[in-house]
Amino acid sequence: MYLRRFSVTDFRSWPEAELELEPGVTVLVGANGVGKTNLVEGIGYLASLGSHRVSSDVPLIRRGAEQALLRGEVHHHGRKLGVELEINSGKQNRARVNRSPVSRPRDVLGILRSVLFAPEDLALVRGDPSERRRFLDELLVARFPRYAGVRSDYDKVLRQRSALLKTAKPALRGPRGRSRPAPADPDLPDDLATLEVWDGHLARTGAALLAGRRELVVALAPYAQDAFARIAPSSDPIGLDYRSSLGTDGVAELPSSAGDLEALLLERLAEVRKQEIERGVCLVGPHRDELELALGEGPAKGYASHGESWAFALALRLASYRLLHADDVEPVLVLDDVFAELDSDRRRALAELVSGAEQVLVTAAVGEDVPPELDGVRFAVGDQKVVRPGAAPVAEP
Ligand SMILES: Nc1ncnc2c1ncn2[C@@H]1O[C@H](COP(=O)(O)OP(=O)(O)OP(=O)(O)O)[C@@H](O)[C@H]1O
Ligand SMILES: [Mg+2]
Repeated sequence: MYLRRFSVTDFRSWPEAELELEPGVTVLVGANGVGKTNLVEGIGYLASLGSHRVSSDVPLIRRGAEQALLRGEVHHHGRKLGVELEINSGKQNRARVNRSPVSRPRDVLGILRSVLFAPEDLALVRGDPSERRRFLDELLVARFPRYAGVRSDYDKVLRQRSALLKTAKPALRGPRGRSRPAPADPDLPDDLATLEVWDGHLARTGAALLAGRRELVVALAPYAQDAFARIAPSSDPIGLDYRSSLGTDGVAELPSSAGDLEALLLERLAEVRKQEIERGVCLVGPHRDELELALGEGPAKGYASHGESWAFALALRLASYRLLHADDVEPVLVLDDVFAELDSDRRRALAELVSGAEQVLVTAAVGEDVPPELDGVRFAVGDQKVVRPGAAPVAEP
């Protein structure tokens, strides 16, 4: 797929900006701070309804404006779709497809798919487990948009159940602070009976998310290993595994069916109930899980060098791209300021890996950092303008 047009109004630093794009490589070059990342962040938002830099929408709306608009014209398998998003401060965001309103923004997921590489990706390797969970969930949604619903259902259940554990803690404890047994007793205190209902919801929605993540890790691992070996051929090979709060040892021990996972989650919830009540937190479920990244024999986090961590993060993004591609959805590739961080061999390796993609958008502060293998249309970004330099002016006689 490719983006033919992309425009923004009051998005980040841009009152207005419009890009006319083509398949192939497009490079946006401009000084630091002129708004290059802002533009590709908008493209990422149109594809995923999230920013790779911030978790709230507030900073996305231009300071002083009430609303930001993003518009894209997406071409895919000979079909053309217009997608439009309104990011509103203080009220619900809205979306339109071919100018017709859709009932919720989530309905546009899947129209534009993109994989964005950015300096922030270093956090995939060096950051908290939540970064890696977010990576998995976002890729899951990019592959199968219905997981947006699964994820939001799980988050809701988790919030409710956690709130119940916190507020009901004193009521659920027996005399002298010991928690009561939890049998299916008609005389159960209300809170405990309610907790059992939420256990069921957590296990059901959690199992759906877990099954998706499990399948994703299995599918992604070989692509990531291959990409890393190409970008960093002299480093040890990498490994991906999934450690769940079910106490299983890696992805190999995790059942693949959502039904089996649901049963395991319920079992585990019963085991930890006493601790959960004591601590007032939800201890079991995909929100506690970890995508484990290994370099050679040990964990990457805390051991991998800066360059290796960066190569690992790139490998995860390249693997995402190749996985989506294998599903027959070629996403738009966005490389935000990634070449400045790489030595020349790695630049070349990355350029070769992405140069065959249907559409690649690259940003760079220094044009020479972009390897010649990624030759394409160059836009100059600056002074609140994006300019596509035309043919060289004819010299005056
Ligand atoms: N909501 C906003 N309203 C107005 N300006 C904003 C907003 N959010 C960010 N900016 C401005 O956007 C600019 C940063 O833009 P951006 O990150 O796209 O730069 P860049 O061209 O990618 O630079 P670099 O080469 O350093 O990565 C900053 O000057 C920042 O103040
Ligand atoms: Mg930038």
